[in-house]
Amino acid sequence: MKVLFSGIQPTGALHIGNYFGAIKNWVKIQFDYRTFISIVDYHAITIPYDKKEMPERVMDMAINLFACGIDLEKTNLFIQSEVPGHADLTWIFNSVTPMGELERMTQFKDKSQQHKKNVNVGLFDYPVLQAADILIYKGEVVPVGEDQIQHIEFTREVARYFNKRFGKTFPECEALLTKTPRIMGLDGENKMSKSKNNIIGLLETEAEIWKKVGAAKTDPARIKKTDPGNPLVCNIYSYHKLVTGEEEREEISEGCRTAGMGCVDCKKIFVKNLMKVLNPIREKYENLKMNTHSIREILNNNAEKCRHIAKQTILETKDKMGINPVWKL
Ligand code: AMP
Ligand code: TRP
Repeated sequence: MKVLFSGIQPTGALHIGNYFGAIKNWVKIQFDYRTFISIVDYHAITIPYDKKEMPERVMDMAINLFACGIDLEKTNLFIQSEVPGHADLTWIFNSVTPMGELERMTQFKDKSQQHKKNVNVGLFDYPVLQAADILIYKGEVVPVGEDQIQHIEFTREVARYFNKRFGKTFPECEALLTKTPRIMGLDGENKMSKSKNNIIGLLETEAEIWKKVGAAKTDPARIKKTDPGNPLVCNIYSYHKLVTGEEEREEISEGCRTAGMGCVDCKKIFVKNLMKVLNPIREKYENLKMNTHSIREILNNNAEKCRHIAKQTILETKDKMGINPVWKL
């Protein structure tokens, strides 16, 4: 079986961009691979955060992911900082990575703009840690949203740099995208993202979601209900692709073009269909939340398994580099 690896930051609240951009895919294909999913807390500390909130955020992310359908037994869901090999391999990769490669990274440019007063070395080195996450398990398939493609290409570069210098050790992984790899935010201008305050949360209630969707922009040229609209430029219509079947979508598109259906009705159908996906997730989340103890146990066991695999890779890597443990002499 090929190895699948993906990671997610413990951001606090998952949104439908995370779900339809990446997590839905993890759930769908987890049984076809040897699957590792990591809650990447070492990545999260590269931007300012509240230390009192972090433990809760990590645990909550685990519960969220299981609620979305990550299998409790099949998938190795674990907390990144509990497997020290990731940081170990990062240091090794630092020594084969040219600075220029990191300077090109758009996520670094964006985040250093957002946190001008806290541009730390960790933020710059973020993609190297990401490469180490994937390659320590010799990951080949990396399901992510479109914003991560540059980091996955970078990971391939790192594998090449290392293999060229020390001999074939790491595979060249590939990004795997969903059919909807970039979901726009409710503002219709930016990618959906917690930092842009434009999200539909995965655990929000129908009333909360309706409040946001009801106020969201549609085709800007459609001012009155009687004006015909263009679904291709409507952000809400793009959301229908996530949850509405082809036939119903066709009817909505027709209704919009001919002014037979108003934006409010179109939005109502979207929210109704979205809740069919979100309601079961919220129910499962609430059940799992009463069982945090057993979830903590699963995370512990998974970290133990990962530490074992990571150790093998570190030994192999160090051996290839001539950094052998003293007992070998
Ligand atoms: P993050 O919350 O940044 O750790 O992202 C977790 C996963 O969700 C990554 O694979 C991202 O590429 C994906 N993702 C985040 N936001 C979006 C979005 N607006 N559209 C599609 N995928 C997204
Ligand atoms: N950088 C990714 C994000 O912001 C999270 C991540 C960390 C990741 N390590 C990874 C994703 C390894 C895929 C593989 O979404």
